[in-house]
Amino acid sequence: MKDLRNADRFLSHLESLFSVTFEDARAIIGHFHQEMRYGLAGEESSLKMLPSFVGRPQGTEKGQFLALDLGGTNFRVLAVALDGKGHAAIVAVCKVAIPQELMQGACDGLFDFIADSIQAFFREHRLSQQQAYALAFTFSFPVEQSSIASGKLIEWTKGFTASGVEGRDVVALLSEALKRRELGFIRVAALANDTVGTLVAGSYAEPSCDMGVILGTGTNACYPEKAARIRKRPELEACGEMIVNTEWGNFDKLKTNVYDRLLDGASRNAGRQRLEKMVSGMYLGEIARRVIVEMTGQGLLFEGKGQAAFAGEYALTAEHLSMLSGGSDIFAGLGLADVSAADGQAIREIGRIVSTRSARIAGAAIAAVVTWMDAHLEAGHTVAIDGSLFEKYPGYQDAMRLLLQDLFGNRAARIKLELVRDGSGIGSAIIGAVAASSRC
Ligand code: GLC
Repeated sequence: MKDLRNADRFLSHLESLFSVTFEDARAIIGHFHQEMRYGLAGEESSLKMLPSFVGRPQGTEKGQFLALDLGGTNFRVLAVALDGKGHAAIVAVCKVAIPQELMQGACDGLFDFIADSIQAFFREHRLSQQQAYALAFTFSFPVEQSSIASGKLIEWTKGFTASGVEGRDVVALLSEALKRRELGFIRVAALANDTVGTLVAGSYAEPSCDMGVILGTGTNACYPEKAARIRKRPELEACGEMIVNTEWGNFDKLKTNVYDRLLDGASRNAGRQRLEKMVSGMYLGEIARRVIVEMTGQGLLFEGKGQAAFAGEYALTAEHLSMLSGGSDIFAGLGLADVSAADGQAIREIGRIVSTRSARIAGAAIAAVVTWMDAHLEAGHTVAIDGSLFEKYPGYQDAMRLLLQDLFGNRAARIKLELVRDGSGIGSAIIGAVAASSRC
């Protein structure tokens, strides 16, 4: 017989292990500012603060652009039309799942697969191969850019490990693959992170937008910085303003608990992406699974009987937790029959605890970047956010807003969190257009 009182006690202890208090949030902001300063100065920092070689768009960019979007489990090719009045539309799109063996295989295999998908896109949409095309490449990993259309991958994140890519220019790798597939008439005109695409897509339509955030498989943010403050790159000063990719997923000044440490230790990139591992969709299910296994081991779930469904790493996903929280029964799909109401409720509670911490850390990180730009919140700020956690996880947005209210009271209303769907596709096309007229 399960001891309900003990299960409750376990869960309330869990809640305190995962809490992000007002003081914690203030501490996150303080550390963030310090790490941003170090990162911009080129000193050691968990925030890479990578210049993007792009500023915010005018909203008047026009034309049709090709875009590639690589950053998660899916890869997309898109044609995007910009009307020059702040409106962008996807004209054609093709989405392909990246096979696991390519994510973790050799460099050429991955880039040839991308080139093959572009070829299929041309065929499917009967695009002429007799003219030149400019293509914008959204590559959602940390990249040290040296211009708008070149940059070296610093290190893989989000489970990618393809060999021979780290340290190399991903635009050159893509261009070579395009040539191998006789697609040399496509010129890679811009390289951008997905957060930069999201900010650019957000500010194409809404000029007060000054932050781009991804809360999906991975998490990250960017914002427009005065080029003079990017002290590690004095040569950029003439650019005036440049969007900086913080790579906040790697922020590591956070209070961790035993589950975080075990997850990190077992991951492919131990010691890295510590914030991402506490916040993003790729990891939330795994944190919860580890809690479930612990509770089962203590006899507090499933009458102490280990369940095969929760035995494998990453068997439980953020999507499962999200569906459970929305009232769906996920257990049959996981191959579990007869989960008791109390066990179901306890697992739902674990999901709430884990996702609330994620939302509160994300809220504190947003607060940090906004107050870096505007210490006393004197202006309004629109934060363009893309990603399934923010879009779909029940209660997630409310938890973020609550944290901002805790921190700023009424002034929290000056920070508008806005869903910008598909920023990484649409935004990169806009970047392609901005690149054409860029000063940098
Ligand atoms: C990971 C990547 C980062 C990207 C984020 C969201 O954190 O390192 O570049 O923006 O995921 O996709």
